[in-house]
Amino acid sequence: MAFFATKEPLLLSLLLAIGFFVVAASAGNFYESFDITWGDGRANILENGQLLTCTLDKTSGSGFQSKKEYLYGKIDMKLKLVAGNSAGTVTAYYLSSKGATWDEIDFEFLGNLTGQPYTIHTNVFTGGKGDREMQFHLWFDPTADFHTYTVHWNPINIIFLVDGIPIRVFKNNEKHGVAFPKIQPMKIYSSLWEADDWATQGGRVKIDWSNAPFKASYRNFNDQSSCSRTSNATWVSCDANNNSWMWTTLTPHQYGQMKWVQDEYMIYNYCTDYKRFPQGLAKECNKLE
Ligand SMILES: *[C@@H]1O[C@H](CO)[C@@H](O)[C@H](O)[C@H]1NC(C)=O
Ligand SMILES: *[C@@H]1O[C@H](CO)[C@@H](O)[C@H](O)[C@H]1NC(C)=O
Ligand SMILES: *[C@@H]1O[C@H](CO)[C@@H](O)[C@H](O)[C@H]1NC(C)=O
Repeated sequence: MAFFATKEPLLLSLLLAIGFFVVAASAGNFYESFDITWGDGRANILENGQLLTCTLDKTSGSGFQSKKEYLYGKIDMKLKLVAGNSAGTVTAYYLSSKGATWDEIDFEFLGNLTGQPYTIHTNVFTGGKGDREMQFHLWFDPTADFHTYTVHWNPINIIFLVDGIPIRVFKNNEKHGVAFPKIQPMKIYSSLWEADDWATQGGRVKIDWSNAPFKASYRNFNDQSSCSRTSNATWVSCDANNNSWMWTTLTPHQYGQMKWVQDEYMIYNYCTDYKRFPQGLAKECNKLE
């Protein structure tokens, strides 16, 4: 069943042939790429579309979503997370399709007390089923400056990268009966909200509202390497047959980088949690070839 590698380019060529070509409108402009969807004025686009901020106070969080939906892409966003005492706050940044059997690719940033490390939480849902959490600390302070968080999703794998360093790969293991997101287009969503019942140190540390409003900032959105469409069913600006992102996986060097991150900074891996999955770990946790 390994024929997707030859089938997919045909499908994409077809989509390209019947679709419009739209020159990717200035990457990075938040006005052009996103709609603010939540928060009653707490999320704002600033600096002529170069900066977006989400805030959270006792009344509400805030959030936004992409105008386009994507079926594969290497999508970059720079984030600067809530500084200081961010315990109980969660900044979610993810791709998701719609419906009861949705697919989803998640980054979530769980705040912490001042001086304690943020946790990056990652997950992959296929057909509405997740339970594939991997969590990491970071090798830098993600509140001091902007850093790039990338979802690289192609027919071979989904790679999570931080400043270009892969931290996790979810491989396409369809031939072993593991579902892989490849049909349902996804939009990009992000929000800043309160989740102090579980987010920080297992929910033991609560949010301190005296620090509100909390703020997360976004810059340098880049979706130029992607297949996307606006809400009408016309595929646009996809360079799938001539690029380096659609058919690539990690290089040996990148595997080395990922091993470093996972050895040094990974704090949770669903693939080693026998206690939580007494009936057996997920199939993809076995060494599959
Ligand atoms: C917060 O800090 C504690 C102590 O260093 C750490 O165990 C935890 O993983 C950090 N992150 C969260 C979200 O609790
Ligand atoms: C979708 O198509 C309809 C009808 O052709 C058009 O009125 C509308 O503006 C289109 N929407 C987008 C987002 O392109
Ligand atoms: C493929 O991409 C390269 C570099 O981006 C470009 O120079 C070349 O013209 C492209 N070829 C086609 C057929 O689009």
